[in-house]
Amino acid sequence: MSRFISPALCAIFACSICSTVASASDLAAGKTLYDANCSACHNTGLGGAPKLGDKAAWAPRNAQGIDVLVSHAVNGFDGTSGSMPAKGGVATLTDAQIGDIVGYMAEQGK
Ligand code: HEC
Repeated sequence: MSRFISPALCAIFACSICSTVASASDLAAGKTLYDANCSACHNTGLGGAPKLGDKAAWAPRNAQGIDVLVSHAVNGFDGTSGSMPAKGGVATLTDAQIGDIVGYMAEQGK
């Protein structure tokens, strides 16, 4: 009597749906929210805010890692160039929305 070992069995559970991993942040949503809530300072550099897309300004900030950036944006942050108000002063924004926005901002600075 022979035994059959089927390698195909191993592949049955390799489901392609599982590879649809949600991205860390929703960049499109982040852009819309950025334009509405953060651009007043971050488009112009008002009060020392790092400008959107200014790679030199964002390189050292991005180097801190996205978690630190999000935490600074959620809680507020007094750095060497100015004062970032908690949630940009818009208390109704959720932490997840801030995460989307910061993901967008960080991406623009790369
Ligand atoms: C009133 C002006 C103002 C508004 C509005 C504002 N920011 Fe800022 N933001 C700043 C300033 C100033 C800094 C620089 C602080 C420093 O590093 O000294 C900053 C820095 C940051 C940083 C970098 C923090 C770090 O660790 O380097 C992030 C991320 C950020 N802001 C996100 C946001 C988001 C998201 C919004 C909108 C919800 C927002 N900001 C709205 C003024 C503003």
